[in-house]
Amino acid sequence: MPDPRLRDYQRIVFFTGAGMSAESGVPTYRGAGGIWKEYDYRRYACQNAFVRDPAAVWEFHNFRRGLVARCDPNPGHRLIVRAEQQLPQVTIVTQNIDGLHARAGSRSIHELHGNLWRVRCDRCGVKVQDGPVLRDELRCPTCNSWWRPDIVWFEDYLDDAVVQAATEAIMGCDLFISIGTSAVVYPAASLPAYAADNGALCVEINPDPTPASHLYSLHLRGPATAMLARLAAGDPALLT
Ligand code: APR
Repeated sequence: MPDPRLRDYQRIVFFTGAGMSAESGVPTYRGAGGIWKEYDYRRYACQNAFVRDPAAVWEFHNFRRGLVARCDPNPGHRLIVRAEQQLPQVTIVTQNIDGLHARAGSRSIHELHGNLWRVRCDRCGVKVQDGPVLRDELRCPTCNSWWRPDIVWFEDYLDDAVVQAATEAIMGCDLFISIGTSAVVYPAASLPAYAADNGALCVEINPDPTPASHLYSLHLRGPATAMLARLAAGDPALLT
């Protein structure tokens, strides 16, 4: 199957996972060097851990903030920004919490799993967006509760409004490009099927096959930046 020309499509969704940021230096979760191979998420990234030991959860969260703050968007993030600027309708649905799509300049982003730089007070219901910094003020000044990282931990529910907006974009797209996800975490992993069911051309960018590979008509088995550049080759303006 020949590579699709992005310009031939009217409604494109980029569905990204940790592999999208791997070439920026952000560790993935699984596979070689994966975060969950070194840290037990049950101690650092779930509500029970936060209730049991909020200080330990914040130490891990600030550790991750420090890692990501030293990373920059890669050419793949920037190519998606150019696609957004030059093509009629481009939407990013990301599982990533690193904020690199926004830092690259993307605007139409649905963050399924929240954002590393945002915190919320579950008692006051307020949210605060930090810059790419470590947070040292860990308690809400109004009620003195611990600030809760505004990310979706294991066993958490996703934000209904975000899921609905993401699902609408995916169900309405004519080109769906999955980049760097192992397709093993639900409900995010259930979303690509909506694109396939609605007749979109589905492309999987991942060096490795995944349990969702059967949904895709085209498999680009390589790193995100090189494979996105290959897709953009049909539209040289996207390569500038
Ligand atoms: N380019 C493209 N894909 C890559 C690259 C790369 N340079 N490097 C690795 N990958 C692929 C791996 O082959 C793997 O399939 O990226 C995928 C990363 O998988 P995970 O680490 O499982 O990340 P992800 O799929 O985003 O995880 C989903 O799990 O822990 C939760 O909430 C967390 O959002 C996360 C969710």
